[in-house]
Amino acid sequence: MRLQQRSLVGELRIPGDKSISHRAVMFGSIAEGKTTVSGFLPGEDCLSTISCFQKLGVRIEQQGEEVTIYGKGLEGLQEPAEVLDVGNSGTTIRLMMGILANVPFYCTLIGDSSIGKRPMKRVTDPLRSMGVKIDGRADGQYTPLSIRGGSTHGISYRSPVASAQVKSAVLLAGLRANGITSVTEPEKSRDHTERMLAAFGCEVKNEGLTVTINGGTLQATHVQVPGDISSAAFFLVAGAIVPNSKLTLKQVGLNPTRTGILEVLKQMGANIIISNINEEAFEPYGDITIETSALHGVEIGGELIPRLIDEIPVLALAATQAEGITVIKDAAELKVKETNRIDTVVKELTKMGARIEATDDGMIIYGKSSLCGASVDSHGDHRIGMMLAVASCIASGETILEQAEAVAVSYPNFFEQLNELSEESPR
Ligand code: S3P
Repeated sequence: MRLQQRSLVGELRIPGDKSISHRAVMFGSIAEGKTTVSGFLPGEDCLSTISCFQKLGVRIEQQGEEVTIYGKGLEGLQEPAEVLDVGNSGTTIRLMMGILANVPFYCTLIGDSSIGKRPMKRVTDPLRSMGVKIDGRADGQYTPLSIRGGSTHGISYRSPVASAQVKSAVLLAGLRANGITSVTEPEKSRDHTERMLAAFGCEVKNEGLTVTINGGTLQATHVQVPGDISSAAFFLVAGAIVPNSKLTLKQVGLNPTRTGILEVLKQMGANIIISNINEEAFEPYGDITIETSALHGVEIGGELIPRLIDEIPVLALAATQAEGITVIKDAAELKVKETNRIDTVVKELTKMGARIEATDDGMIIYGKSSLCGASVDSHGDHRIGMMLAVASCIASGETILEQAEAVAVSYPNFFEQLNELSEESPR
């Protein structure tokens, strides 16, 4: 795909939150009754979740952003005749393992080549200690994974990583476990599972960094999915760094476990206004306006990291346009995302003229540098692809983006929206 400089002006509605869309389908599938979902993200990852639950015997109808799920409870799931293919989706495979821990039948889970490299023992280990039978390559570290659930017992699990996928898998396994199940994290990860379990009528206790569940049955409900702040992040950074830009992003999710990007951009000097905030919904949301701003370098680490982990590639791009040095630390988790995002960010931004170094747990970016068009590659990682497309908006000359199609994993209409907002400005 060929891309070039432009400024960005206007208003747009960001597609539905990926984490919430996955959970709406999953929880609706194991709830009793008819769940309806509006604002669903029809991206490849969430469609993989729908297809897996259909193979487990759940009737699911999806038309664009509207989904209807005819749940018959956990006991309504049936042993699938085929393997369950999660595609590129880490959330699908890890949360499904937690759900499948509750049912006494056999399933095999596979995914694409990226999923085949991602660590699964972080879920396999606690589930095995609850009594679930799991096997897979390298003692259950990698796909294909086979799982046979059934009779399980609760555990108090201290997770070595702040991961919503690990936390969610263990809590979901706790739905039918004998006794109480709790998860304690080193830092708080996104809490969509806890919020949505409560919305489906299941009691969850939150105490500091510990979440506890004492079994439960889910009752169907309606889920209104807000816009995905991780998708909004590309336009937030674009609005801040592309000259003569002003963007308003409508109805974006503002869950505090996800808003690290807003805090960091503000700290960097970005001019951001949040309006029309709705705090009543089970997930808060509001409109975000951002305009071209003079940015300066910052240090990003500690408890902020899980609250902006998916936004680090695009924040690294913002840092190339900030005066001074930006240090990103405590972010070794980036190495086990869809790609090793420390390597892919550094490699691709360097091609465009950025001064950026990889460290063991993050990166150091020296601003401000002028970017130039280059031939770059998403490496099949949606967020790397979108970050590079935003970079092309400020780069001199033409940028050629290889594997641009990867963006469909989380943002099917990304290039369409980017083009709609663009006022081409050959400077
Ligand atoms: C997600 C949790 C995060 C995030 C991922 C989605 C989720 O991963 O990076 O894109 O929906 O629970 P971890 O759980 O590995 O932190």
